[in-house]
Amino acid sequence: MTANLLLLPGDGIGPEVTVQVRRVIEWLAKNRNVSFTLDEDLVGGASLTKHDTPITDAAMEKAMKADAVLFGAVGGPQWDRNAFDKKPERGLLRLRKDMELFANLRPALCFPALTDASSLKPELVSGLDIMIVRELTGGVYFGEPRGIETLADGSRKAVDTQLYTTEEVRRIARVAFDLARKRKGEVHSAEKSNVMHTGVLWREEVTHVHATEYRELKLQHILADNAAMQLVRNPKQFDVIVTDNLFGDILSDEAAMLTGSLGMLPSASLGAKDAVSGKSRALYEPIHGSAPDIAGQNKANPIAAVLSFAMCLRYSLDDEANAALVESAVSAVLDQGLRTGDIMQPGKQLVSTTQMADAILKALDAKAR
Ligand code: IPM
Ligand code: MG
Repeated sequence: MTANLLLLPGDGIGPEVTVQVRRVIEWLAKNRNVSFTLDEDLVGGASLTKHDTPITDAAMEKAMKADAVLFGAVGGPQWDRNAFDKKPERGLLRLRKDMELFANLRPALCFPALTDASSLKPELVSGLDIMIVRELTGGVYFGEPRGIETLADGSRKAVDTQLYTTEEVRRIARVAFDLARKRKGEVHSAEKSNVMHTGVLWREEVTHVHATEYRELKLQHILADNAAMQLVRNPKQFDVIVTDNLFGDILSDEAAMLTGSLGMLPSASLGAKDAVSGKSRALYEPIHGSAPDIAGQNKANPIAAVLSFAMCLRYSLDDEANAALVESAVSAVLDQGLRTGDIMQPGKQLVSTTQMADAILKALDAKAR
């Protein structure tokens, strides 16, 4: 089978980490008997600069047809003051919405070599392995009405709408329970049912899915603010956390930071399964963002992007063996003491983006032998 991948490097450090992913893909094509066709297009600020839109219809069409999209990052200070529909982020949000990528999987995993890089005590984070399942196509990110309105007296009013339906909650709950089944069998569902109607609906629907389809698993409801607090108090109590779009945005950044570096963590955004082919649309993305302050300096950590590609192998291409191979190569270079600036520690060897990728390719060579 030939996997048809679309690369959307985007802005900031997106292009420089995506180039390194391309090298890993080429290594697999050469050494592991997997075949890829790669296409590339613009998204975010890069697309705004060339086409005056954060993503073109043509790029969208490629994304819809691809087996998977490998996304870099979008955004930067030069576009901060753009009108809403001309913000780089709209490109990513359109991809999520049009591809119906409703399930965002964000693992927060503490690599043994990085236990000391966390802002928490090593014993709190060593062995940490949480999966945050964030609803990605609903909630306040997309709910209508939304907008800013000028009132008669010249003052303004802004509205965003938090909105969830039964089906939206049930389908994301199923993703979380299915993952928990393959992990420790525990799901925490986070909402604000003490103040929000969407929170009440969320809690009831997750309870329903659990009671009717996943009784053997453990479900605990937790208020989102308490979840934020528990994550820094005792993160290892969590296995899978399922939550809405906005709480998931916040809790996943928090969980990621606990592991020592945002620069290490991948994510997968998965759509509904096609009834005929059984395949889901999917987009893979490092969670670190565009980091304009270090862009173009060969300083960025390519590991999150490389691990996002490993998730692509696992979830879209059903290739667990090569996913595990790429992940073990990443662990190996960390064990060798190589560090980009974001995870640098005394006594370790500071390397550039390119050098980190060189080392990953070398580790792959060594493992494949
Ligand atoms: C993320 C980002 C995005 C979000 C931005 C870039 C629109 O923060 O993927 O977490 O808020 O979802
Ligand atoms: Mg975010």
